[in-house]
Amino acid sequence: MSAPEQVPVLMPVTRHMFDDLIVPTYAPSEMVPVRALGLDVWDQQQRHYLDFTSGIAVTSLGHAHPDVVQALQRQAEKLWHVGNGYTNEPVLELARELVAATFAQRVFFCNSGAEANEAAFKLARKYAAKNVQLHESRHKTKIISCVNSFHGRTLFTVSVGGQPKYTEGFGPLPADLIHIPFNDIDAARALIADDVCAVVVEPVQGEGGVIPASSAYLEALRECCDAHDALLIFDEVQCGMGRTGDLYAYMAYGVVPDILTSAKALGNGYPVGAMLTTDAIAAVFLPGTHGTTYGGNPLAASVALTVLRTINTPEFLARVKEASGVLTFLLQGVLQDYPSVFSEVRGRGLLLGMVLSEACRGRAKELTRLAEAQGLMLLIAGPDVVRLAPALIVSDAQMQDAVVRLRRALDNYVS
Ligand SMILES: Cc1ncc(COP(=O)(O)O)c(C=O)c1O
Repeated sequence: MSAPEQVPVLMPVTRHMFDDLIVPTYAPSEMVPVRALGLDVWDQQQRHYLDFTSGIAVTSLGHAHPDVVQALQRQAEKLWHVGNGYTNEPVLELARELVAATFAQRVFFCNSGAEANEAAFKLARKYAAKNVQLHESRHKTKIISCVNSFHGRTLFTVSVGGQPKYTEGFGPLPADLIHIPFNDIDAARALIADDVCAVVVEPVQGEGGVIPASSAYLEALRECCDAHDALLIFDEVQCGMGRTGDLYAYMAYGVVPDILTSAKALGNGYPVGAMLTTDAIAAVFLPGTHGTTYGGNPLAASVALTVLRTINTPEFLARVKEASGVLTFLLQGVLQDYPSVFSEVRGRGLLLGMVLSEACRGRAKELTRLAEAQGLMLLIAGPDVVRLAPALIVSDAQMQDAVVRLRRALDNYVS
């Protein structure tokens, strides 16, 4: 007689397992989301939350958007992956539509914002290296970026980013990286010289505190880059793909970059990144100079194509601007009623920040935890700013609901 089969008894999965099993680079919330639709999220205990984070400005069409789900399912039944020895139909369609919608003539696909920026910085150095021979000038290797900027976590991108706390202990860092204060035209004019190969800026600083660049600043950067043959790179990983009410933020500023990076909302949660540029600049990235296994994968491309087509319509983008007006108005009301907590509401479109007053400095995380207890998911942007980035499909009723929950959280915060 054979022994009875042993059925393994698996313990239920809990948040505590994170602390035992996962490399502790994050400190996630105590609640574990298990299901979501639109802006509604439910946790393991079936508690409901209104999501004003969009997974950090990613799920801009909301969770489980039916068209995006369908695009992924259809492609999953057709072709998942072919590698870079072959191209595929979805990636060609996506490239065609991104090029048609922007200044760009060429696209490089990858899997994340950091990878898109890594490609951009490498491309800028390579492009300058080619021009060194042409112009016989040397060492055109400097990259200028902004204090408090964020461009990703690879060693190159985190070093270009202007937040020293993220590079501590990772040295030696890549050389020739210079950080200048954001929105400071004089500093830009003083430092952008012939030895600079690229200037990179977020048109709206996201992680750094939700701070829009001034038009004059972006215009000055463009002018300085032109004067010194440097490439202007816009990092639109967070502020792009409709979040500001235009497909890309540069469109409202009327300042055209040489390279633009996009990710996050481009895949609505499916990992994908893109670096957009011109024919002339792209020409130095010949076969073998750069690459990634999954870049332009048919699954990612199918999703991104659907996202792009959905967001890039005049009606959709007009609604983002309208919703931005509604949310800004509601948040201004909160600011008025809680002057001891907040000093300012700022941002663009549906990327908004509530800046904590001097008295509440450093307490943004505490406020998001209290909001979560009221069923509202919020983000921080540094220790002093509460950031709101709801899906772009947010309704007026959902914005009103969110502000009611925020006010309840604030009553607990101040008392
Ligand atoms: C402006 C900006 N650039 C780059 C990144 C990095 O993107 P990823 O986390 O997809 O690598 C982020 C992420 O927050 C970002 O906000």
